Amino acid sequence: MTKPNSPIGVFDSGVGGLTVLKQLIRFLPNENFIYLGDTARVPYGNKSPETIKRYSREATHFLLEKNVKMIVIACNTVSSLAIDEVRKVAGIIDVVGMIDFSAVAAYRSSRNKKIGIIGTRATINSKGYEQQLKFIAQNSPLEIKSASCPLFVPLVEELQIDTEATKLIAYEYLEQFKDFGADTLILGCTHYPALKKVINELLPDVDLIDTGEQSAIQVLRILAEKQILNNSQIDFSTTPRIEFYLTDFSYSFTQLAELLLGFPIQNPKLIEFSS
Ligand code: DGL
Repeated sequence: MTKPNSPIGVFDSGVGGLTVLKQLIRFLPNENFIYLGDTARVPYGNKSPETIKRYSREATHFLLEKNVKMIVIACNTVSSLAIDEVRKVAGIIDVVGMIDFSAVAAYRSSRNKKIGIIGTRATINSKGYEQQLKFIAQNSPLEIKSASCPLFVPLVEELQIDTEATKLIAYEYLEQFKDFGADTLILGCTHYPALKKVINELLPDVDLIDTGEQSAIQVLRILAEKQILNNSQIDFSTTPRIEFYLTDFSYSFTQLAELLLGFPIQNPKLIEFSS
């Protein structure tokens, strides 16, 4: 039974989903959250679609057992390849992914209709964003350039947020978007907002689309429409009510969580999946 004070379930392969959680807290300060980071099996982005689907089913079952009122797939890789699987398992519980609303936001905010997309190999190979953008544009002019940035995820996981190495690699990946003339770039991986500063320095005139931000707006809209926003009194004196579950304790998770969320995470619990 879905109740307004039930938590919202959020999952990702690791720390990337924290950038989504941050946006969810911003737009929905009165909600309770359950965050699942599959830190033992990160990265997802270079795994096969079958494996990503299996991991996603396991995460969904786990969150449903916690009686969540909604599931947010805080991972573009899962959103590209396994959102149907997640929806199948979730049944009547709403599932919000990262792609659809971010594609609309990118299309609407682009003035020259030259849109860049960066993501993991799996996300870029799936062509999910491209298809969605072409669907939105119908027959209107639109040029798209996509590139996978496989080193960004390990850099973020290793807390290499603003180092010379990160800047060098970012230059290698991103220079092509300048030549292409993109005025909008979709950060199609939830790890990438952690690198916003570096990306912004390289592409100062390009609008960066943060998929967590776009999705958080939709989560707010859906919960309001369904009248299941948490209606208990906001207690501004406490940090948000979030339970953290991880499949492996990693140093970087706690460090990055504090860096991104602005508060230390309390007692993350270790869980194990079958494989
Ligand atoms: N943060 C994830 C995404 O949005 C996945 C990164 C990974 O596990 O490769 O795609």
